Amino acid sequence: MISRPFVLLTTLLFLLSNSLAFPNYADVLKRQEVEEAGSRTGRPFRPVDPPSPPRPPRFTGAKLVHDRAHPWKPLRDGDVRGPCPGMNTLASHGYISRDGVASPSEMVTAVQEGFNMENKFAIFVTYLNHLMNGNLVTDLLSIGGKTSKTGPDPPAPAHAGGLSVHGTFEGDAGMTRGDAFFGDNHSFNQTLFDKFVDFSNRFGDGFYNLTVAGELRFQRLQDSIATNPEFSFRNVRYFTAYGESVFLINFFVDGRKTDKKLDMDSARSFFKDMKFPPNFFRSPMPMSTEGLDDIFLMHPFLPGGNVDGKVNNFVVDPASATFETDCVLYEDILNTVKGLYPNPTGVLKRNLIKNLRFFYDGFSAAVSNECAEQFPYGQQ
Ligand code: HEM
Ligand SMILES: *[C@@H]1O[C@H](CO)[C@@H](O)[C@H](O)[C@H]1NC(C)=O
Ligand SMILES: *[C@@H]1O[C@H](CO)[C@@H](O)[C@H](O)[C@H]1NC(C)=O
Ligand SMILES: *[C@@H]1O[C@H](CO)[C@@H](O)[C@H](O)[C@H]1NC(C)=O
Repeated sequence: MISRPFVLLTTLLFLLSNSLAFPNYADVLKRQEVEEAGSRTGRPFRPVDPPSPPRPPRFTGAKLVHDRAHPWKPLRDGDVRGPCPGMNTLASHGYISRDGVASPSEMVTAVQEGFNMENKFAIFVTYLNHLMNGNLVTDLLSIGGKTSKTGPDPPAPAHAGGLSVHGTFEGDAGMTRGDAFFGDNHSFNQTLFDKFVDFSNRFGDGFYNLTVAGELRFQRLQDSIATNPEFSFRNVRYFTAYGESVFLINFFVDGRKTDKKLDMDSARSFFKDMKFPPNFFRSPMPMSTEGLDDIFLMHPFLPGGNVDGKVNNFVVDPASATFETDCVLYEDILNTVKGLYPNPTGVLKRNLIKNLRFFYDGFSAAVSNECAEQFPYGQQ
């Protein structure tokens, strides 16, 4: 489906790119369908000056997003997918590049457009992932495992490993993905999905609603405590696990419905096939973690993990952030970033400063405005 004039245009651009400054090249690309950026083989990786995060879209109502401009396509050799059914689906419909590698600003645009994720919340989640798992020089992030498509590695210990890296954002007790301890932290797991369906039958009459979300979230924690000697559930993971449990209701339910419950065919479509259900409409309003408090309060649970390498040995971690201590979360995130980038210089340093700024903008609006902004690498 790649049009011939575009192929010619990209070829021309690749030829010219030695003399073009990379930001110009990126601008041109942005005006084209992102998906048609096509193969990155041969892409000259130049340092990118990251643009400011996208603003909210003008229209924020329900609309058909499984449309003719965004057909689902099967994976091609080399396409990357990972632990997030949301990003996987957006890639398979071309809302971000189908190869599964994109810039954070492309990702924010895509989650807004395809799922109506609220602007500041999308910025918070995306830049958090980018700071930990992205390539801050090329401004590219993989939605799955590590790939050369994000460009040459930044100096270790930074790794640009993508969303699948365990212990940054990806973590234990996911709904349809196994714990990293068992070997595969990112693929769809049919056994776990069967459990998801079973819980939806038992607590939701065949649908996933907030009651199911609260029960399944708690059960997955019990599973990990009982089977994973390295089970860890603190800070970023503590927040995201509860958030993801309500994403299904906030983003995967067709925007024309008002009953806030997800049917199993649609769930399978997103989780397994990475595909919007037929004629899918996105949410009728911008959403983030609505419902999180409800499911948390069904089975309040403090952050912690199994200790001494033993199962059934869960100990609460008083140093971890909780829903009442957002600034501890901000602190923890900054510490992770500082650990990854002890001594940045040049473009890397400039981009770190910028990305931290973008991240704080999202964090302070979407999570808490009470944590003073920190500047571990100075200000520009
Ligand atoms: C804004 C950018 C986003 C990023 C960077 C992102 C990243 C991730 C990552 C790294 C995980 C793995 C966490 C784990 O270990 O379970 C994850 C899980 C998940 N994400 Fe996303 N996500 C984003 C947006 C979305 C959106 C818009 C949706 C829904 C439309 C979504 C739905 C989910 C769900 C349901 C899970 C849990 C999967 C499971 O437990 O089986 N995410 N996401
Ligand atoms: C998680 O998945 C990624 C991508 O396949 C892999 O590189 C990594 O080793 C896994 N992490 C763990 C701890 O299993
Ligand atoms: C899926 O998860 C189950 C339950 O945790 C586990 O026993 C099984 O080995 C996993 N399957 C694959 C293919 O990883
Ligand atoms: C979820 O569905 C079940 C079964 O219909 C129902 O009893 C329960 O009240 C629903 N939960 C919510 C929050 O609507």
